[in-house]
Amino acid sequence: MTTLLVDVRAKRFPPVGSAPARQALGPVRFSVRRGERVAIVGPSGCGKTTLLNLVAGLDPDFEGRIERPAPPIGYVFQEPRLLPWRTVADNLRFVLGDVPDAETRIARALAEVELPDAAPVYASRLSLGMARRVALARAIVVRPSLLLLDEPFVSLDQPTGERLRLLVLELLEKHAITALLVTHDLREAVMLAERILVLSASPGRLLGELEVALEPGARRDPASVDAEHLRLRAAARALVEAAAELPA
Ligand SMILES: Nc1ncnc2c1ncn2[C@@H]1O[C@H](COP(=O)(O)OP(=O)(O)OP(=O)(O)O)[C@@H](O)[C@H]1O
Ligand SMILES: [Mg+2]
Repeated sequence: MTTLLVDVRAKRFPPVGSAPARQALGPVRFSVRRGERVAIVGPSGCGKTTLLNLVAGLDPDFEGRIERPAPPIGYVFQEPRLLPWRTVADNLRFVLGDVPDAETRIARALAEVELPDAAPVYASRLSLGMARRVALARAIVVRPSLLLLDEPFVSLDQPTGERLRLLVLELLEKHAITALLVTHDLREAVMLAERILVLSASPGRLLGELEVALEPGARRDPASVDAEHLRLRAAARALVEAAAELPA
């Protein structure tokens, strides 16, 4: 069952001061089924964050149409964007609002991101890896109908990034969360997503989709992920090369 339908024809940013108007996205059309994990890959600056902001409903100014599932939509931003002068628990409480079982849900979400003791810690005291976990907990504590993740693993060292990838995979699978993950890292997309959308360079348009042929167990096996990554890298290159031969 389709839960998200994206039909963006174009997104332009208006001119600001001496900076000219800029087209950030070309045609991007896809749908996501409930419980599916879809990745969006594309080069830096191609419009991935812009696209997630459109999907989140944060930016209504575009040509096209988006049908979203009912709220809440969870969004893990490219930067963790926590309130630094508040505790971790307060950061979660803030998005949860006045629900009767808030404290239980906060404790459970923090346990799920493997930070069971972080509730009283001020957000400004967290390492980047911890802040990303808290941002993830904040996005899932609302039980989102759709989870948007924007490069949630960048700037982390390799072992920390890998642990967090496995944690996210575990969470998405366990709760059958419908997720849209933005990354510039195809291997990461292969490990986490069932389907990969390939965007062109700026202004990003959808070049095509790749199906990831990995059973759940194989996603935790680096050699299997490597093999599938190699196969899909060739497929992604073919999409990019085919597009280069056509007028935009
Ligand atoms: N508010 C804005 N006003 C004008 N231009 C913008 C604005 N936000 C983004 N852009 C431009 O739109 C283009 C796409 O930006 P966006 O941040 O979506 O790319 P991205 O694919 O997420 O990049 P990265 O991989 O570096 O995160 C860029 O050229 C950027 O400069
Ligand atoms: Mg971005």
